[in-house]
This record gives sequence, C-alpha cells and structure tokens, in this order.
Amino acid sequence: MKVIALKLYLLISLNVVAFAGQGFILPIPQKLEIDNAKSKLGEKLFFDTTLSKDKTLSCFSCHNIMTNGADDKKIAVGIEEKKGIVNTPTLFNAVFNFRQNWDGSARTIADQASGPITNPVEMGHNFADLINELNKTPYKEEFKLIYKDGITQKNIVDAIAEFEKKLITPNAPFDKYLMGDENAITQEQKEGYRLFKSKGCISCHNGVNVGGQLYSRFGMVKLIDDSNFGLYNVTKEEEDKYYFKVPSLRNIALTSPYFHNGSVETLYEAVSVMLKYQVGRDTNPQEINKIVEFLKSLNGEVNYAK
Ligand code: HEC
Ligand code: HEC
Repeated sequence: MKVIALKLYLLISLNVVAFAGQGFILPIPQKLEIDNAKSKLGEKLFFDTTLSKDKTLSCFSCHNIMTNGADDKKIAVGIEEKKGIVNTPTLFNAVFNFRQNWDGSARTIADQASGPITNPVEMGHNFADLINELNKTPYKEEFKLIYKDGITQKNIVDAIAEFEKKLITPNAPFDKYLMGDENAITQEQKEGYRLFKSKGCISCHNGVNVGGQLYSRFGMVKLIDDSNFGLYNVTKEEEDKYYFKVPSLRNIALTSPYFHNGSVETLYEAVSVMLKYQVGRDTNPQEINKIVEFLKSLNGEVNYAK
C-alpha cells in the first residue's frame, strides 16, 4: 500500500505529467451477461421493505435507481431515523468497482449486499429472521425455481447482485467521443478532459468507471478529514489510515453531495478540493469550470428499464 501511494504522490507532486497519460478511460459496455430469472428475483428483493427489521426501508429507499442510484442526503439515514456515518454512493456501475463501499470493506456486489441488511444503522435486520419471513411468502417457491437449496443468505445476495449488474449507464457523451464521435462533447468539455489529464486526475480516476480501481489517501497533499480511518477499518494496518477507494466519477454531476462524508455540495467545490488537497495544483475558476463541464459528459443512460 505505502509504496504505491508514495510513488503516486511523488509523481503527482513532481508534476510528472507523462504518468497521467498512463491512465485511460474506457467506455461502459452496452450490457452485461445477465441471468434474467435471478435478476427478476433480485429486483423484487431490491424494492422489498421486508429486508429491513421494521419493514420501512428497501434498498431503493437509499439507492433511487430512477434518478441517480443514490439519495440526496449528506449522510445516509437508516431504520428508526438512525444516522449512518457516510454518504450513500450511487449503485450505478458499482459492478465495475474493484471493491465496494468507501473503505473497500466488501469485495463484490454480492458480498456487499449482506452489509446493508444487517447493518444496525441501515436495515438493522438479521438473516435468520429474514429467511423465516420470506419462507412464509411466495418467495419460497420463487427461490426454489432458481436455487435448489431455496432461500439462503447466499442466494438472497446472489439474486440482488444479479439485478445490480443491470444498473449500468452506457452511452455517455464522453463514451461516444471515446468511440470516435468527435462532436459528442463540446469544445469546453474537450478542454476539461485535457485538464483532467494534465492535472493528474486521471492517474487515480481511470478505467471503465473513471475510478473504482485503487485506494488513495483522502488528501494526498494535506489530510482533509481525520474522523474516518477508511481502509484502516478493514485492514488495521497503520499505513492504510485515511485511505479510501477512489470513487467512480460516472454520473458524478447527479450525485451531490460529495465525498465519503458528504461535506461538499457542488461539483465545482469538489473539483477545487481535489485540485488543492489531492494533486496540489495551482488553478483558476476557468479551469475548474472546464473540468466540471468535462465531468458532466460522463452522465450515461439509465439502462434499468431495458
Ligand atoms: C439506509 C440507506 C441504505 C440502504 C437501505 C441501503 N444502502 Fe447501499 N449504501 C448505503 C451507504 C451509506 C453506502 C456506503 C457504505 C460504506 O461505504 O460503508 C452504501 C453502499 C452500497 C454499495 C457500494 C457502492 C460503491 O460504489 O461502493 C452497494 C453496491 C449498495 N450499497 C447496495 C445496496 C443494496 C443491494 C441494498 C439493499 C440490500 C442497499 N444498498 C441498502 C446506504 C444504503
Ligand atoms: C491520488 C488519487 C486521486 C487523484 C489524483 C484525484 N482524486 Fe478525486 N478522489 C480520490 C479519492 C480517494 C476520493 C474520495 C475521497 C473521499 O471522499 O474519501 C476522490 C473523490 C473525488 C470526487 C468526489 C466523488 C464522490 O463520489 O463524492 C470528485 C468529483 C473527484 N475526486 C474529482 C477529481 C478531480 C477533478 C481530480 C483532478 C483535479 C481528482 N479527483 C484527482 C482520489 C484522487
């Protein structure tokens, strides 16, 4: 961890722009291979408040997949108005992240799905009771049709994860540009993309998700918030303190507020924070605006209905 981070820091602080060129962005595929029966079952579970202890919340309550795959709260609010500790990330394109959650505490979307169901400040339920409840409903037969062993924790999260694979957003203007349509983005967005590369943003925010590929300290140049240990919570390694998964910037214009602590309202401010604390670069409002414009070209199409 430390070695990679230090290297990255040195490269950025030494203005080694060539390094930034090594990262690149890839378009989102039109769709992924999906098992439709599992996905339909997962979809039903996704919208079902049975998954929460007091039957008030479903996954959809916090992840509005009709709009941005998230909510608009600074910090998530669970059952009985319990306040969480972090901002709700979008579910869109989560399948492409190398780890799930801000601190990377889950490896896959299936591993992740158990978390909110049992987290006391989210849905606050437990699997033994949930499985009993579901077995008293038509779910019993529905699971049997797909899974030989019926309703189990593993099968519940497997179905939900299959549905989540549908929640990808292809055909963003920037993806069209990457695939050769020169006119898909504006001149200002092209200039913003150039700045995104030359300022070093792309060294962390790259790949299909324009992020979601590695960890980095929040505030490489200067620590921003010491109230959440990030990756350290998972590894208990001192050197991982304040490291977070570099988040995806896909659909970022739609998912205010920003950062794991939801501390920032506007994209303009989020980009300013990154420039100052993450890459330590001098800048001006014109440049920030151009980067913001570029980021808007990462809004894709919600594929959910298809
Ligand atoms: C009370 C609000 C709430 C509910 C309900 C909820 N989530 Fe979340 N979700 C969050 C928050 C907050 C995080 C970030 C958690 C963290 O980083 O520790 C998150 C993270 C995620 C992520 C990781 C995304 C990423 O980019 O890292 C996925 C996937 C996800 N949730 C799926 C689900 C599913 C599936 C359900 C239903 C079983 C669900 N969530 C229910 C608030 C919620
Ligand atoms: C050294 C790696 C690194 C570099 C370089 C970097 N970022 Fe980030 N970025 C992160 C991390 C880590 C976070 C998440 C911080 C947190 O909330 O804990 C983040 C968060 C963001 C967010 C908010 C995402 C959200 O979902 O709330 C935006 C917007 C962003 N970065 C844009 C940029 C821009 C623009 C640049 C270039 C000026 C840049 N980043 C450079 C690592 C990096």
